[in-house]
Amino acid sequence: MIPQSFISDLLNRVDIVDVVGRYVQLKKGGANYMGLCPFHSEKSPSFTVSPTKQFYHCFGCGAHGTSIGFLIEYSGMGFVDAVKDLAQGVGMVVPEQDDRIPPAQRAQMQAQSLALSDAMTQAAEYYKMQLRQAPAAIGYLKGRGLTGEIAARFSLGYAPDGWDNLRSVFRDYDAPVLAEAGLVIDKVDEEGRRLKRYDRFRERVMFPIRNTKGQVIAFGGRIMEQGEPKYLNSPETPLFSKGHELYGLFEARQAIRDAGYVLVTEGYMDVVALAQMGFPQAVATLGTACTTTHVQKLLRQTDNVIFSFDGDKAGRRAARRALEACLSHVSDNKTIKFLFLPAEHDPDSYIREFGAPAFEQQVAEAMPLSQFLLKEVAADFDLSEPEGRARVQFEAKPMLQAMAPSALRLQIVRGLATMTQSSPGEIEALCELSKPVAEVRRAPPRSARPEPMGLELQIVRHLVAHPALALEIDESGLAAFDSFGPEQSERLRQLVSAARALGPQGNFASLAMHLKEQGNEYDAIITEISSESAESDFEADRQYVASAIRQIKLDALKAELDQLFTSGKTAAEIGDRYREISAMQDQLRKEAEVGLPGR
Ligand code: UTP
Ligand code: MN
Repeated sequence: MIPQSFISDLLNRVDIVDVVGRYVQLKKGGANYMGLCPFHSEKSPSFTVSPTKQFYHCFGCGAHGTSIGFLIEYSGMGFVDAVKDLAQGVGMVVPEQDDRIPPAQRAQMQAQSLALSDAMTQAAEYYKMQLRQAPAAIGYLKGRGLTGEIAARFSLGYAPDGWDNLRSVFRDYDAPVLAEAGLVIDKVDEEGRRLKRYDRFRERVMFPIRNTKGQVIAFGGRIMEQGEPKYLNSPETPLFSKGHELYGLFEARQAIRDAGYVLVTEGYMDVVALAQMGFPQAVATLGTACTTTHVQKLLRQTDNVIFSFDGDKAGRRAARRALEACLSHVSDNKTIKFLFLPAEHDPDSYIREFGAPAFEQQVAEAMPLSQFLLKEVAADFDLSEPEGRARVQFEAKPMLQAMAPSALRLQIVRGLATMTQSSPGEIEALCELSKPVAEVRRAPPRSARPEPMGLELQIVRHLVAHPALALEIDESGLAAFDSFGPEQSERLRQLVSAARALGPQGNFASLAMHLKEQGNEYDAIITEISSESAESDFEADRQYVASAIRQIKLDALKAELDQLFTSGKTAAEIGDRYREISAMQDQLRKEAEVGLPGR
């Protein structure tokens, strides 16, 4: 967990115009900047960036958020990576909760990661240059149907024959960073002393693996003849973790957006060959099973993911793993499908043998996740016997449990119920599903909190726009919220404490981000504020909130006064309370005149 205060500081320091400007061409227009929205296709600009609010907003598609949100949406980075990326740009170091790394060491780690990244870039350049002078490698790639254009798109390279070619690339071939980057291998004796160092990649066609920022973080190298291993990969390094990265994602980003889906394959050559044949929206897992991190990364780029697997047993097993990795991410606005190619075919060989239209057809006919799941759980059992049906339910239980409640889960529950001669309610109960959906239909609708209205809405709006105002609301102010009703009061109190947590530097951008993490209750208000053309004036808003709270207090006192004489109190009690109420009213009115905050 990165502390909220750090996020606020960060959002105060970075300039969203710079951040967005790196990717979108912006033009100044009034107080804001305008450009073509990167999140939907448009011809005239409806995408605005507000330097005062530090928020972007698209009037065309409604996309909006902070610098952090922009990076996440645009580049597909995770939250932590986005924060780190921005922090690095303004010279801040992200504090980590679990390890209290001293600043000096942290600086050293940052220097190391820079050095690693540098080494990878240099190596990639070198391999790329070498490909030009390697007729055998060029011949190999041509033989696999690739043009120079595609080789350039993926920055393919060649590591020539020889044990220490990288000696000519790096000033210091003995530098520890080359081993840490996995570019060389150190042969050591029993005591761990280094005997000899040599290049990891020799005589291989090189596929650079990039992160979502486009930096080279690893390589895969393919042997051109028969031999083992067919592909040699970089080891796990501080820059590279197989379970997190997808080959080709950086290169495919725009194509994924254009196509509206991403195609997930199992191999380097599949990605490259598909791009060659007109399917640039393909990526590959790196010889590992698909992980939930992979799925998360993919779903950040698009709502539609299609996995492709060989039709053989291994492919089916891989598909099963992918299915499991997807379950926790299933939701009603996402579509995940599985494509099974005929046995002995991968996308590369299939598209070459049968052509692009045939492959397109396969994509169109891919099996939806719900169908694949039901097929999987039923595959090995006999549905004509009670034992078989029970086993199927048993198989399905952990999968259903992994899914959040959704309309799609209900559909699967229904399918499973039909298949196993049960009712949806029975399945939900048997599988001990959280928030069973089948049953809810009969129960009265769950009451959401009533929408804020009137004065309450105004206070909410002002607090969201200027979170620092929450610091000026005292106990009596909070108590006054009770007159809106218990749920409304609870909401305001929660909002005040979230806003206070940001401290005096708290701003709209960071509160908006926090509120969005909690759900969609404030979406309408956030959209409204982020799309207002003018920045509201802090001082005026502060006066407004103070006077609104005074008004609530006055209303409450008036209501109490109206009932005081019929309240059944003794004359003496009534007299005492009457004087108290009058004094409080006087005080509030006096504050209103001088415009002091309502304390
Ligand atoms: P495949 O063996 O299916 O190879 O491995 P491929 O992708 O079809 O490659 P070509 O067409 O023969 O060139 C699938 C993926 O598994 C990983 C690679 O990521 C490869 O693309 N793999 C495979 C390795 O990492 N090492 C290996 O030795 C083999
Ligand atoms: Mn292949």
